[in-house]
Amino acid sequence: MDRVDFLVVGGGIAGLSAAIRLAESGKVLVVTKEELAESNTAYAQGGIAVAMGGVEDVRLHLEDTVNAGDGLVNREAAQVLVEQGAMRVEELLAWGTGFDRSLKGEGGVAAGELLRTREGAHSLSRILHANGDATGREIAVSLLRHVKEIERIELLEWATTVDLLVEDGRVMGATLLDGEGGLRVVLARAVLLASGGAGQLYSDTTNPAVATGDGIAMAYRAGAEVSDMEFYQFHPTAFSMAGAPRFLMSEALRGEGAWLVNSRGERFMERYHSLLELAPRDVVARAITREGMDGEVYLDMRHVKSDLPERFPGISRFLGRYRLELGRDLIPVRPAAHYLMGGVRADVHGRTSLPGLFAAGEVACTGVHGANRLASNSLLEGLVFGALAAEAMVAQGAEVRARGAEGLAVADAVESAVSNQGVTGEAATERWIGELRALMWKDAGLLRDKVGLERAQRGLEALAVTMPRGMFRRGVEARNLHLVAGLIVAAALGREESRGAHFRNDFPERDAVGLHSVMMRGELRFVA
Ligand code: SIN
Repeated sequence: MDRVDFLVVGGGIAGLSAAIRLAESGKVLVVTKEELAESNTAYAQGGIAVAMGGVEDVRLHLEDTVNAGDGLVNREAAQVLVEQGAMRVEELLAWGTGFDRSLKGEGGVAAGELLRTREGAHSLSRILHANGDATGREIAVSLLRHVKEIERIELLEWATTVDLLVEDGRVMGATLLDGEGGLRVVLARAVLLASGGAGQLYSDTTNPAVATGDGIAMAYRAGAEVSDMEFYQFHPTAFSMAGAPRFLMSEALRGEGAWLVNSRGERFMERYHSLLELAPRDVVARAITREGMDGEVYLDMRHVKSDLPERFPGISRFLGRYRLELGRDLIPVRPAAHYLMGGVRADVHGRTSLPGLFAAGEVACTGVHGANRLASNSLLEGLVFGALAAEAMVAQGAEVRARGAEGLAVADAVESAVSNQGVTGEAATERWIGELRALMWKDAGLLRDKVGLERAQRGLEALAVTMPRGMFRRGVEARNLHLVAGLIVAAALGREESRGAHFRNDFPERDAVGLHSVMMRGELRFVA
């Protein structure tokens, strides 16, 4: 049994941002399923949206965030996000994050100044980027460099967090499967879930393999409230070619002038939104799906004159593998699962409905994104809310220490973890996960209706019978995916309206008042 002051599950931007602050007040253990660099953070291409130009800039960023969220954004959370963003980004700069700067004073920007791009639903160019299209990786690398210098932070890679330990309604730690398959118990004054998203729920996703909704599943099993699970964002433009991965074709391509054209070569977005290719993501994703019913949809940059391989080196390298070039060829695209707006219900300080449990980043639902996240607000979310959660954990953690974290039902927790008798084989587990992902894509994806959602529900019930068994990483992930899929389907069935990323063919209108869905222990309710 290990004892630390703070346990952080996940090593993306939210987890590392928190760990840096937590280390000022105690010993921190950061646990990641693979190596630290492997998180949704590292895959973020386009950039980090931030208002660094004072009051008017902040006001506009707030309005854009609220407008994209389609009537469901928690304005207080969004205000905190956009106000504190600049301060946190300044810190990143001080830690050596190399955002791109103007070399020769191009585009009206003085030499040496930060370059900014624009993406969908932003009213101006406010998105910082790094190495062209590798912003997340640059931030992850610089945060890690900083974290590795802090002695009080221990990093445990290749370990799967299995479940939270709860005693008298308070979270006291977690059980982990280490890299050798051994079960470990970690006790902590406070636990932060910063475990990212759940893109692996869908057969088409831009997310890495680690994004299996573990934090949401663990929190829900422990009795925490989850919120807005029906709002899953599909990125409009993932690469679309048989046999190729759904590699992200960053929204920044459209920010730099890319058009969307259909198989007849028509630029079609004018039929869907006045902002054309820079409409909110949910609108663009649905438009591509509709146009894609008659053939391929493409990104077209043949009219864009700038040096595209230099501006988008990662995307250009990827396309080169398929003998395609931005600016020369049409690039086939289609939507793919990208970001979950819902998650563990939390306030801006990461406080969940369970004492001792905190959540920040994609795993959390503060309501900051409402029904549809504004492009490039997610790195900022992790940075700002990770830091705020750390402050709250230090405050609440002290309370627990005074009580004394003794007498835990650790033995029970370990017993229930290992009592999952029998082990499903690897191939069978992969097949089972594949079925779940296909079912979610077909019936709980971009366009939904009651018939399809009920079919998804029955499919999940059938999959429950053959649920993979045993204490191994893929088995744990399979069970987590199943639970999170059930939450999404239940919330999607309950929301009989269309709003943001949740579109019901049978209820295409938006209700007059936006309500949040909240689920706990099998009950669904809607609240203001
Ligand atoms: C992108 O580069 O298009 C992704 C940015 C985001 O998801 O906010």
